[in-house]
Amino acid sequence: MENYRARTMLLVIFIFPALMECKVRLYDFRVVLTNTTKLCSTKSIVTINGKFPGPTIYAREGDNVNINLTNHVQYNVTIHWHGVRQLRTGWADGPAYITQCPIQPGQSYLYNFTLTGQRGTLLWHAHISWLRATIHGAIVIFPKKGVPYPFPKPDKEKIIILGEWWKTDVEVMVNQTTQSGLPPNISDAHVVNGQTGAVPGCPSPGFTLHVESGKTYLLRIINAALNDELFFKIAGHNITVVEVDAAYTKAFSTDTLFIGPGQTTNALLTADKSVGKYLIAVSPFMDTVVAVDNVTAIAFLRYKGTAVFSPPVLTTTPAINATPVTSAFMDGLRSLNSRKYPASVPLTVEHSLYFTIGVGIDPCATCVNGRKAVGVINNISFIMPTTALLQAHYYGISGVFTDDFPALPPNYFNYTGNNTAFNLQTTNGTRAYRLSFNSTVQLVLQGTTMIAPESHPFHLHGFNFFVVGKGFGNFDPDNDPKKFNLADPVERNTISVPTAGWAAIRFRADNPGVWFLHCHLEVHTTWGLKMVFVVDNGEGPNESILPPPSDLPSC
Ligand code: C2O
Repeated sequence: MENYRARTMLLVIFIFPALMECKVRLYDFRVVLTNTTKLCSTKSIVTINGKFPGPTIYAREGDNVNINLTNHVQYNVTIHWHGVRQLRTGWADGPAYITQCPIQPGQSYLYNFTLTGQRGTLLWHAHISWLRATIHGAIVIFPKKGVPYPFPKPDKEKIIILGEWWKTDVEVMVNQTTQSGLPPNISDAHVVNGQTGAVPGCPSPGFTLHVESGKTYLLRIINAALNDELFFKIAGHNITVVEVDAAYTKAFSTDTLFIGPGQTTNALLTADKSVGKYLIAVSPFMDTVVAVDNVTAIAFLRYKGTAVFSPPVLTTTPAINATPVTSAFMDGLRSLNSRKYPASVPLTVEHSLYFTIGVGIDPCATCVNGRKAVGVINNISFIMPTTALLQAHYYGISGVFTDDFPALPPNYFNYTGNNTAFNLQTTNGTRAYRLSFNSTVQLVLQGTTMIAPESHPFHLHGFNFFVVGKGFGNFDPDNDPKKFNLADPVERNTISVPTAGWAAIRFRADNPGVWFLHCHLEVHTTWGLKMVFVVDNGEGPNESILPPPSDLPSC
């Protein structure tokens, strides 16, 4: 009897909660066209379930997420769950022709993955052509049941999705520029939760964030813009960053957020100022000569009890080229590195990689000026395959890619010097860098001044990495590593490599599959500023790619 009781207790204590804990979260994503009016003009956009931004995915750490996508438009579609580790489930990662063939008009596909070891905010977005302009949304991953946040519990949570808006049809525009070789149009406005706010010539109320005096809010802020790194500022209020890219950080108080496309930031806002209306400004960052959409999106923070027609408390936006603001923000981010959430930074390095990143010019017979811009890593512009690379890797199909991507640039020169006199012609190919399971990698991303230096928000699929160092100018392999932070570097999936500067990241290749590394500025991805890592299977159990699902689309 005693024994039976003890066993039942054990069952109740251990087995039952375990069963209760992990849920399957089901979502239906229908890709449909929707008419939308912004900036006083109407167009048809591609959306999920008719929504812009799209539906939020809510889950807990450990949950299994099932999204059934059905394609009811004339475009090929795929969706990427940006920042989800996809341990052994690369088939659900989403980048077209990298991990899957596109879901064709009339077809469907079940994205099936588990959220392992992650909690916080991420985003999902289309990963084919420029469809992510209107196909994107939030992923909210709560901690496991009963596990608190490692910061004071907020009274409420709010999602804030930043984006870009074009008055024209984005797909038409992009196809034209691919033909002509001319750069794509910059967007016409920025949006906060789908609203531009008033812009010259077109009144519009803008998004309102409603708060109550004395309460604390967890803002889940997402940059879903295509080409613009952004500043986010609330008049009269500081906010406290507690997490980025679904990894906890040490609490860091600031009046301005800097957030690149693909990045997410969780920050606490306490409504402790006088009742009223406060401006929220979202403005672009660009510290070089590249054209950018310079329209500030306007939203409002509004306290309960604010009188109608109260004039808002205003704020200034950082200068468009406020490099020091971006540096101060990035330097302020540190991993929480607590006992519960340690920063497992690789302390030894098996693959030491140095990638130059930038743009070049190639001849193009059919282009308007006889040339076109290309994006290059180690002077190689990536050619998209027509067979998905993960299938080619899994089934051993030859002739789709090579695994000879170079660990170092082909030539040494002063990457961040005056390079205008250079012969810019680049090479191209579908080349991968191969890693054995569990090997450790240090990757220094070196921005170059070819054509124009620019800040590049670089995103790695399948992993989080630690940003162990960054700086301006050329990376110094002798002295810079001495200054690396190996104790509590920020952990993330997307890093802004400073203009004419570098960033050093480290990760462990503990996820078998084919993983995309690319600039998250869509214009640069389109130009070829991308490559892939192939991570081989390990030998142990749970160290191999799972078999592909039966409904995996074919090309
Ligand atoms: Cu958020 Cu490969 O992208």
